[in-house]
Amino acid sequence: MATTPEQAPRNGDPYQAFEIESHPLTGLDTYRPLGRVEVKFLDGCNRSCSFCVNEDHIGKILNPIDPDRFNASLHSLLEDENESEKPFAVYGTGGEPLMVLDVVEAVMRPLADYGIATRLVTNGTLLTEARLARLVDMKLTGLKITYNITDSARLLAMVGGSKERDVLTVLENIRAAKAAGLWVFVRISVGATNEDEIKKIYDLMREIGVDVVQIKPWIPSGLAADEHDGLSLPRDRVRGFFDDFAHQNRSHPGPGTNAGLTVSCYPPAREAEFVTKDCPHVEKIYCEPGGRVLVCNYANEYLGSWFPEDGGLISVMARRRELYTRLMDEHGVTSCPARVNWSRPTGTISPAPAPNPAAPPHRSSHWTASGTGRPEMRLELRRSGHLIASPVTLLDHHRYRFWSVGADIDTLLPGRMQT
Ligand SMILES: C[S@@+](CC[C@H](N)C(=O)[O-])C[C@H]1O[C@@H](n2cnc3c(N)ncnc32)[C@H](O)[C@@H]1O
Ligand code: SF4
Repeated sequence: MATTPEQAPRNGDPYQAFEIESHPLTGLDTYRPLGRVEVKFLDGCNRSCSFCVNEDHIGKILNPIDPDRFNASLHSLLEDENESEKPFAVYGTGGEPLMVLDVVEAVMRPLADYGIATRLVTNGTLLTEARLARLVDMKLTGLKITYNITDSARLLAMVGGSKERDVLTVLENIRAAKAAGLWVFVRISVGATNEDEIKKIYDLMREIGVDVVQIKPWIPSGLAADEHDGLSLPRDRVRGFFDDFAHQNRSHPGPGTNAGLTVSCYPPAREAEFVTKDCPHVEKIYCEPGGRVLVCNYANEYLGSWFPEDGGLISVMARRRELYTRLMDEHGVTSCPARVNWSRPTGTISPAPAPNPAAPPHRSSHWTASGTGRPEMRLELRRSGHLIASPVTLLDHHRYRFWSVGADIDTLLPGRMQT
């Protein structure tokens, strides 16, 4: 059985030190070519989930991606003869992408001609018959529908803008998506508030005949960073949950067909015999409407801008190759907030300078930010001249969020920008 960092504390490190060669999932020391491009179609949403990693919500400006500019960038990558790495899939997300179906169609429809798989993730509330027909017509390869909660009272408490009947409506829409002939993938995020519902949800999905069910522990990122205590399972319990679930499933297999079952962002589930998905860091790039390209939306590792005038996805790919080792080895995976659920990042291998104990306590008046290009593109945050975090996500003119570099992930510090 593979040794996980969790099982192998090193040198008295209070956290379990992370090292490339002990990563249980991937050969991160070798370059992984790009697999898929993920595109955030908009920032707006018809829900306000208390856990939203993207901090999207009802009333947030829609800010849809410009499909012509995005296509120009994507298609130059697909057609560039000097670039050997081509994505085999383009996945769309949001916000709620069904709010901008024209934009979705403008990007996804042409990709069928390239033989590129296309998938959309949705909260499932806006899936009417007409929209489903349109998704089929644009040759969308698959639909990923979020379904976390069967209990109306819980849904109303956790998801702003939801209606009492939504637990049934989304279930009906999942059935309708299957009936329309789409490949349907259902995502359940699991935590303290819904662990007792997961078996029931999985059985419902078997009964409906969905193709794949994926379980993912809540990740303390975005709004969920603040909700962490109430939302996520205690770290010791996450592994217990997967063991119990595997046991329940073996002893009481549900009705209908056996939906494929995968686990995302929790490698130890492999030891409870789940198929675990490789860390998305290693194969995707994530494009936002504002131009930023990240390695993953849960950890803000910045790769460049997809805007054609900034060099577009071709230059992002060059940057990805240049940064890959650093991102995987020293930065990206070690700063991943999902790892809080199963292992701790070590402070020893970050490229950032060690924190200066003489530095004044964290107070915004001591922080300065400097950036290059557009302010939202790249910023470095310094405290008394010492690099604290890079990159920083500017949420608006006053607020930012960032991951402290090389420190315990719990030290995520939301705050205000002094400019
Ligand atoms: C950000 S949403 C965007 C698409 C769509 N609005 C939806 O909710 O399905 C994509 C997926 O991320 C999940 N998600 C959001 N915040 C999360 C968090 N903090 N941890 C784990 N999953 C999260 C959502 O439940 C959903 O399955
Ligand atoms: S998780 Fe999805 S539905 Fe919920 S607020 Fe975020 S983008 Fe909207």
